[in-house]
Amino acid sequence: MIQLVDSGAVRQWCEARRAEGQRIGFVPTMGALHAGHLSLMRIAAQHADALVVSIFVNPLQFGPSEDLARYPRDLPGDGAKCAEAGVALLYCPTAEQLYPPGFQTRVEVASLARGLCGERRPGHFSGVCTVVAKLLNVVGPCVAVFGAKDYQQLQVIRRMVVDLDQPVQIVSGPIVREADGVAMSSRNAHLTAAERQQAPCLHAALQQARALVAAGERDPERVLASARAAIERAPLARLDYLELRDAQTLAPLTELLPGGTLLALAVYFGATRLIDNAVL
Ligand code: PAJ
Repeated sequence: MIQLVDSGAVRQWCEARRAEGQRIGFVPTMGALHAGHLSLMRIAAQHADALVVSIFVNPLQFGPSEDLARYPRDLPGDGAKCAEAGVALLYCPTAEQLYPPGFQTRVEVASLARGLCGERRPGHFSGVCTVVAKLLNVVGPCVAVFGAKDYQQLQVIRRMVVDLDQPVQIVSGPIVREADGVAMSSRNAHLTAAERQQAPCLHAALQQARALVAAGERDPERVLASARAAIERAPLARLDYLELRDAQTLAPLTELLPGGTLLALAVYFGATRLIDNAVL
């Protein structure tokens, strides 16, 4: 595995692979890698000859009061995991490199990026899209893999590459969970022992809603109420949002769509914000 900081060197390396007829698979990350990230790497490897992973904690997607400074970082550990996962190139740019003085462009996806996390984190998806567009331009992959854990991000990126004619196939990977149902996340490291013990409430809320719908419930308010009750059973949890949306367009719903209803939620434990979702 080679590790590069410089975007020009990464572009050259990727061009050389393409000239050899290799297909590049790409997984962008912010590091502190866990089994969720590694599952995306396995999916990318199935679609490609050469696997490229990026690690960059992107300041553009964090709000001023968010956790940029305390976001977990472990480059040596991440490097070892990538090498073991068969990564050919690990791209670790710096903020100075991606956003040099004078940088002033933003990539903005409109309505898809507005509700849910976009509403609670103003500017977040514009930061995500701007960095992902840049990384895709440097790496030039055939396939890029994103996790369904960040469901809105996945839909926003799908829209962006179509709208910008970026020649890349976006593939999604399923949510990888701990044994107790907690979705793997770099931010789980911030939870206290007591918070971690109550963190399964997000998954419990989704499971409860899923079971209700499977049993024939079609009233969205009752589905939401049962999910909300699961969060309320965890005294340390503070609900940020809990919403039903059209799984394709992310438009708000007044009735359940068979096979296409997204239930998405965000929950605070102290200053740590966790998200999860399920398509019912
Ligand atoms: P990060 O949170 O590091 O996540 C990188 C990728 O891993 C994303 O596609 C995310 O959806 C996926 N992922 C995270 N946890 C997962 C889990 N438990 N199961 C499956 N996939 C999971 O998302 C970002 O970074 C950034 O916004 C990024 C796209 C890199 C742009 O900065």
